[in-house]
Amino acid sequence: MEVTGRLLLVSNRLPMTAKVDRGHLAVSQSTGGLVTGLRRAHEHMGGSWIGWPGDVSRMKEKHRRELEEMLQAGGCVPVHLTSEEVSLYYDGFANGVLWPLFHQMVDRIPVPSLQWDAYRSVNEKFAEAVVRAWQPGDIIWVHDYHLTLVPGMVRARIREATIGFFLHIPFPSPEIVCTLPWCDQVLQGMLGANLVGFHTFTHQSHFASCAQRVLGASTSKYDRVRVDGRKVRLGVFPIGVDAQTFGALASDPAVLDEATSIREDAHHESILLGVDRLDYTKGILARLLAFERFLEREPQWRGKVRVVQLAVPSRDKVPRYRLLQRQLNELVGRINGSFSTVDWVPIHYMRRSLNERQVAALYRAADVMLVTPFRDGMNLVAKEFVACRSDHDGVLVLSEFAGAAVEMGEALQVNPYDIETMARTYAEALTMPGEERRVRMESLRHRVFAHDVHLWTTMFVEELALASRKETRPEDAMSPAVELDALTLRLRAAKRLLLLLDYDGTLVPFARTPDVAAPDTELRQLLAKLAARPGVSVHVVSGRRRGVLERWLGDLHLGLHAEHGYWWRNRPNEPWRAVPDVNVDWKPDVKRILDETAASTPGTLVEEKTASMAWHWRRAEPELGAARMESLSRRLDDELRGSSAEIVFGKKMIEVRSRGVSKAGVLARLQAQGIVTAATAVVAMGDDRTDEECFAALPAEGVAIGVGFRATAARYRVATPRAARALLATIANTKRT
Ligand code: UDP
Ligand code: G6P
Repeated sequence: MEVTGRLLLVSNRLPMTAKVDRGHLAVSQSTGGLVTGLRRAHEHMGGSWIGWPGDVSRMKEKHRRELEEMLQAGGCVPVHLTSEEVSLYYDGFANGVLWPLFHQMVDRIPVPSLQWDAYRSVNEKFAEAVVRAWQPGDIIWVHDYHLTLVPGMVRARIREATIGFFLHIPFPSPEIVCTLPWCDQVLQGMLGANLVGFHTFTHQSHFASCAQRVLGASTSKYDRVRVDGRKVRLGVFPIGVDAQTFGALASDPAVLDEATSIREDAHHESILLGVDRLDYTKGILARLLAFERFLEREPQWRGKVRVVQLAVPSRDKVPRYRLLQRQLNELVGRINGSFSTVDWVPIHYMRRSLNERQVAALYRAADVMLVTPFRDGMNLVAKEFVACRSDHDGVLVLSEFAGAAVEMGEALQVNPYDIETMARTYAEALTMPGEERRVRMESLRHRVFAHDVHLWTTMFVEELALASRKETRPEDAMSPAVELDALTLRLRAAKRLLLLLDYDGTLVPFARTPDVAAPDTELRQLLAKLAARPGVSVHVVSGRRRGVLERWLGDLHLGLHAEHGYWWRNRPNEPWRAVPDVNVDWKPDVKRILDETAASTPGTLVEEKTASMAWHWRRAEPELGAARMESLSRRLDDELRGSSAEIVFGKKMIEVRSRGVSKAGVLARLQAQGIVTAATAVVAMGDDRTDEECFAALPAEGVAIGVGFRATAARYRVATPRAARALLATIANTKRT
């Protein structure tokens, strides 16, 4: 599919980071997988890159201007942050809370609301910058955990925008994400996009599951989430590297010379290489402990092998990172102290950043590449190493907890928490026969070159363009305001008007349990006002028990119909009457089945009524609830074959009720009682399948109003109970509620 619009990349970090060094503006290339990946997309597709150019809060005006010019020339739009914002949003919330949480290191979480406030307001700042830069036809692509709220914020301002979101780090399981007090807002924010991308299916399915649990969103096949009438696509897009460029770089004679001199400096000892940002998720300490263990287990290797560890300084205002620096210094000191000899030092530790050429030379010089994070979204170092090995040599030791492990099965995969096995794997890597090294490396290279970063960008952007076209299903389109205005005008003019109103999901939003959905004062006043209008009669038609309706609405001048119309009374103080001759012999057997299901499905409950019984699974774990619903409906089908009861599917509930009782019957009864005549305008409003029965029974000129996002036969549609109330308020001639 051809994609035309400009690409607006949005990430916290821009590809260049600025600071003032001894009175001069110093701009360096940023490090990290995100920048490595996006830089290529930006170069190829043009457009703008919106992001933070580093802390320039204390920069002089002249340097600032110089920087702005450089950024503009590079297609970058800066979002400047104050020192306080950097401290609360970047160091505090993004890297002090979200980073460890999403990498499943929950013990590191404090819950500082000040930081959350800053996170929100900085996300607003980015969203504003996006809205300013946006032109119709543009494709907005927001990146990573710093900016989870931006898609939702932009969507609120530009409904029709094409927005993609990509998470470069893992998305953990719901149990972990739910510990974040603002988890719902983070999910809502990400779901503002048309397409949300992850590196692996595990991350994607965790996200889908979270959206179900926390937001009550419906999902299908784990790659579609429906919220607020919008369909959001989820997808797996494992990022790649620019393999051709790395390959070419690593074959450059100057780089090969550099690799040779690294090996000569190493006195031709075997080289185990580590290249990481200095981050506790990268498993550097465990990697070195395993090396220590290896030297203990395999003393014959002493003097013949070294670890070269490049650690790029990162986020050093965050306490965890400073602690890691200290721990690493100590550990390197201890291991070197115990094993070094006059002419051999086992660990060569460089705490600095190198440019791409220097890193490529290291990749070429290494015998074994150690990529052993405890948890990593993808890890590009693993792929860069492979791309650089045009000699088809070198062994990759890769943590099974890096996203890259899914695609790189030919690497020697390790569990970084298992020091002993890691130590053994180092020995295996160092002694692997040349032919095996070649075979493994060739397979790895084939994939790294085929699935490169250009393919990643193209696939995501094309899928995004597609997703944004298919966002709204026709059945999710609500009635336009002009149509609703014309309708209310007509209804207000009617001499006799009957309103048949469903309760749950129509007048009030769904509650976690049926008992807590009591009407608020605003609703009671609205109903009273409607009922007081001359010629208007209001009937609430619900699946609820009569006792509840009487308690909540009994004093108002309303007709009440409980249990889908089995019980009814047309006025206050009238006795309740029941539909006669209804057979309920089926109840004991159905009760047993529902009770059994509830007992084995935590969070579900059975509601017993006179002529029906319901099993509610709104509070169950969504996947279990859905599975049990399927098996229960099969069981009930068998049980009820040929009986006098029928099954009705509601929202997250199954109800069994006696045949002959339905909301359609309510209208027939009111007609028989003369409350509805040919001159009465009849309006039915409802949100689920039981209301569809009522809609179907309306006279030809009757008006059906469906509430919510779903397929309905109703001629008119509103999105939420709030919108339904607003419409009723207009009929009642009150102000909007
Ligand atoms: N890198 C770099 N300079 C260095 C060391 C590393 O530019 O001195 C790059 C490296 O080539 C890779 C990126 O930093 O492209 C690290 O990405 P990765 O996905 O492995 O981890 P992240 O830092 O994103 O967590
Ligand atoms: C990881 C994150 C990126 C981040 C990079 C470097 O790759 O996913 O979003 O840019 O680390 O971290 P920094 O804090 O320096 O931006």
